[in-house]
Amino acid sequence: MSASEWTVPPPLVGENGPREELEPLEIEFLLEAVYRHYGFDFREYARASLKRRLWRRMSAEGLRTVTQLQDRLLHEPAAMERLLLDLSINVTSMFRDPSFYVSFRKNVAPMLRTYPFTRIWCAGCSTGEEVYSLAILLEEEGLYERTRIYATDINAQVLNTALEGVFPLEKMKLYTEQYIRGGGKREFSEYYVAAYGGARFSRSLTENVVFAQHNLASDRTFNQFNAIICRNVLIYFDKKLQDRVHGLFYESLEMFGVLALGHKESVTFSSHSDSYEAIDAAERIYRRVK
Ligand SMILES: C[S@@+](CC[C@H](N)C(=O)[O-])C[C@H]1O[C@@H](n2cnc3c(N)ncnc32)[C@H](O)[C@@H]1O
Repeated sequence: MSASEWTVPPPLVGENGPREELEPLEIEFLLEAVYRHYGFDFREYARASLKRRLWRRMSAEGLRTVTQLQDRLLHEPAAMERLLLDLSINVTSMFRDPSFYVSFRKNVAPMLRTYPFTRIWCAGCSTGEEVYSLAILLEEEGLYERTRIYATDINAQVLNTALEGVFPLEKMKLYTEQYIRGGGKREFSEYYVAAYGGARFSRSLTENVVFAQHNLASDRTFNQFNAIICRNVLIYFDKKLQDRVHGLFYESLEMFGVLALGHKESVTFSSHSDSYEAIDAAERIYRRVK
């Protein structure tokens, strides 16, 4: 299905008036029901994109109203799994935004080098491409041996892919280009072999990685970190939830720890903006100073 198909709502339904009147209420009920029954909390996700994804699921399931979707989700856990995949928007790539990795290498690696051991939290890591990129960078900077990466995501299915470390071979051309533009120092092909119909990345890259399910919207902090990387995740949350997650990151960061966000995200308008200074504002890399 093309993106344009699911951004268009299904036709108006019911005798009680246009969908615009009922739908916000139906969405509230659906989110509450999903939260109470399954514990997945999407209640504070930004509405516009949430609505598009619910429409997409309704259309794929052949349903006409959000209430029908709620009924199916509650009675068919497999439908919930499918919605989870729609809602958790797992688009990612290796060395995504290469300029970020150039800056991380230049500005963050030297800071990490001052510690005998570092803990890094990669939150919302999706299928793991970001984690493998980070492990490669740290390995090339001589830091991987003394780093533990905690890679988390709300979605257990994407974490399984991350753990397997097998990515489509046809993406290697793009990833190689991004690796080089991101300041890569070796041959990118040194890190994988062709196997299982894909590119299987070296097991050594996950030796110091712990993958775990963690929900930023409802779970608490679980460690103290020298750096937190959470890119292209907050963008899906509303302002209130973003603020809460910033609170979680603040609590989880050591003093002078680094917070790295996606290109469209920032600490600037959060309630914790005073606690950080920019290391590289354009790359959204900050350091906790209070
Ligand atoms: C667009 S991907 C970003 C992946 C990677 N960080 C990157 O920048 O390429 C967003 C990820 O956030 C995860 N996510 C969404 N809501 C979450 C939540 N409440 N807690 C933890 N992860 C969440 C999704 O499952 C998805 O894998």
